[in-house]
Amino acid sequence: MAALQDKIVLVTGATSGIGEVTARTLAQQGAQVIMLARNPEKAATTQQSIIATTGNQQVDVVLADLSVLQQVRTVAAELHAKYPRLDVLVNNAGLMFGAEREVSAEGNEMTLATNHLGPFLLTSLLFDLLQKSPAARIVNVASMAYRFSKPTLDDLQSELDYSAMWEYGNTKLWNIMFTQELARRLRTHGITNVTTNSLHPGAVATGYGKQSGGWLSAALALGRPFMLSPEKGAETSIFLATDPTVATTSGGFFNKKKVEPVKSRFNTPANNLRLWTMSEQLTGTKFLD
Ligand SMILES: NC(=O)c1ccc[n+]([C@@H]2O[C@H](COP(=O)([O-])OP(=O)(O)OC[C@H]3O[C@@H](n4cnc5c(N)ncnc54)[C@H](OP(=O)(O)O)[C@@H]3O)[C@@H](O)[C@H]2O)c1
Repeated sequence: MAALQDKIVLVTGATSGIGEVTARTLAQQGAQVIMLARNPEKAATTQQSIIATTGNQQVDVVLADLSVLQQVRTVAAELHAKYPRLDVLVNNAGLMFGAEREVSAEGNEMTLATNHLGPFLLTSLLFDLLQKSPAARIVNVASMAYRFSKPTLDDLQSELDYSAMWEYGNTKLWNIMFTQELARRLRTHGITNVTTNSLHPGAVATGYGKQSGGWLSAALALGRPFMLSPEKGAETSIFLATDPTVATTSGGFFNKKKVEPVKSRFNTPANNLRLWTMSEQLTGTKFLD
């Protein structure tokens, strides 16, 4: 029997890079894989390619743009209608935006909306499906770029001070802080069948940075030949999603499959709690209160 037979896993951002390799590898290991994607054509092509290369027919697509909270609510309802439970949620989709601050239709700064608010809302709305699993894992793809951040919760939407790089780093710190606060809440609620961890995948040659434009895109293009392959970059995501040695580990930040300390003075329990409360307000959801 394949290792992940009977597991239902959802991977966001599975049309490219680290997410595509994660989805393909989990399908290879026998899981039923749901790809959450925003681009229907790319999603259909990737779905067909994963089915063809793995022989696993159980590869599904659901469509949503994570930066649009209303689409996250709609896709969560669709997932409830289609699946009895969820065993793994990999919040992988994420990107860096351009030099000019942009906002979503709902008025949220685009990096914040895509990298943090969308995944926060999705996790919240799918939490009951995860709880139905005997052993569920929530894996949040963060980044070492959290160290290149200027975190403040007084200007969460970066209305006063915006830079693409700082904003990307901030949202990757929010991914780590969200994971820690989620793990704390799971503990205080006595929930032992759901774990959550975050990770840095390495510097990986993917589509990352292409859409941000300017000098950053140019620098990343020059660096791409020296970066990890997407296959190598997906290793820690797959490890956290499947490996028995981390079955009960929760709240950790992983790099190269090893837990490591988060080096940010902003990463305090009080700030984790404040970020959670603000995220609840901005997404209109209540979650493990
Ligand atoms: N590459 C690196 O060096 C690196 C380093 C540290 C962390 N990371 C993190 O790794 C994760 C994956 O990035 P990657 O490097 O694999 O980049 P990528 O190749 O650009 O893939 C990003 C994926 O996210 C999807 N996505 C973006 N915005 C979305 C939205 N609003 N709604 C739904 N899906 C959306 C993209 O969909 P489309 O195909 O439609 O664009 C794509 O499938 C990200 O969270 C990134 O921050 C990457």
